[in-house]
Amino acid sequence: MSRIVLGVTGGVAAYKAVMLASRLRQSGHDVDVVLTPAAEAFVTGLSFSSVSGRRAYTNSDLFSAEGQIVHVELAHAADLVVVAPASADFLAKAAHGIADGLLATILLATPAKVLLAPAMEAEMWGNPATQRAVAQLRTDGRIVLEPESGHLASGRSGIGRMPAPEVIEQWILRTLRPPVLAGLRVLVTGGPTREYIDPVRFISNPSTGRMGIAVAEAARDAGADVTLVIGPTELAAAPGIQKVEVTSAAEMLDAVKTRFSEADAFIATAAVADLRPEARSLAKVKKADLQMQLAMERTVDILAWAGSVRQQRQVLVGFAAETGNLAAEARRKLHEKHCDLVVGNDVGEPGAGFAAETNRCLFVTADGERQVGPASKREVGEEIIAFVADRLRQR
Ligand code: CTP
Repeated sequence: MSRIVLGVTGGVAAYKAVMLASRLRQSGHDVDVVLTPAAEAFVTGLSFSSVSGRRAYTNSDLFSAEGQIVHVELAHAADLVVVAPASADFLAKAAHGIADGLLATILLATPAKVLLAPAMEAEMWGNPATQRAVAQLRTDGRIVLEPESGHLASGRSGIGRMPAPEVIEQWILRTLRPPVLAGLRVLVTGGPTREYIDPVRFISNPSTGRMGIAVAEAARDAGADVTLVIGPTELAAAPGIQKVEVTSAAEMLDAVKTRFSEADAFIATAAVADLRPEARSLAKVKKADLQMQLAMERTVDILAWAGSVRQQRQVLVGFAAETGNLAAEARRKLHEKHCDLVVGNDVGEPGAGFAAETNRCLFVTADGERQVGPASKREVGEEIIAFVADRLRQR
């Protein structure tokens, strides 16, 4: 079992941290709780020591006679440092490496992974200063959870609630898992493609790239060396992932072709255009000259290409976006494109598919099928990566 430092900062959500500490202890972890002075205004060390069975630390320990030893010892003994709730003030300080208390000092001194669960008023979360701090922390490799939307301490509603203790616990368990894809290369496609008619007009689809990013992040967190070939998206780059930006299906195919043979796994989440205009005008076509019908030609199916040249050792995962016959269509694509797994997605269903936050999927393999979800795209990504790791282990 692992040793976890649980940092608690000021906020009403601090009481939920008591439940989190209790759950972690019940799953057999050693939990060292560190309270900031602001946290002490909401909860006491005694609440935590009662559930963790260990003493809780405060800033007075940093400045005590053995203070030097306390923060270094805690920082180095930890397998994971969790800060829940993480206040706006704490995020801002952590982003700048300010070490004005025991918890902030541990964050600087630890070689372990750090996971932060922000909780604050919606305006504070949305403030550019907080968003800058979060972006910096993520770039530095810290895991910053998204706060949830709902009822806030002020009585208003908005984004800023700390996720429930059981949700944070799931993240903790996921973060502590051994890197099952260490030393392996994973190639992912994501997002839409654009097929230009002229410089100001194109054919595309509503894909956001969120599924590709979620899969790429799950692979990265499993220790893989990840390349994400992605079409035009508004979403920010995920740190620790090599991102190759492309526009058209042809560019995506080229980017995949140059990297495919080195990949241990290829996961095609992209919504690639199936057709493109036969001709692309370099100059804008005037309205009066626009044709009522557009001559089109097929694009290359990237996943099918990969399936036709794949090696036995490689694992191939595709998606099937369907509005009917989900299982049958997913199975057809599994065989036709020589995949190990096809993730079927009913895009006609509310809460699934394009641009949705959550997905209900059907995982179809040669051995059978199983329902996954409703789950967040990240959770679906985790399931895919677990499948890939399992297959790679068998080879
Ligand atoms: N795909 C691809 N290149 C294409 C088209 C699709 O790599 N030119 C991949 C997608 O990334 C996805 C899978 O193929 O993993 C299935 O895509 P989907 O749009 O569901 O199916 P199609 O093959 O286009 O089939 P159909 O239109 O018959 O449903």
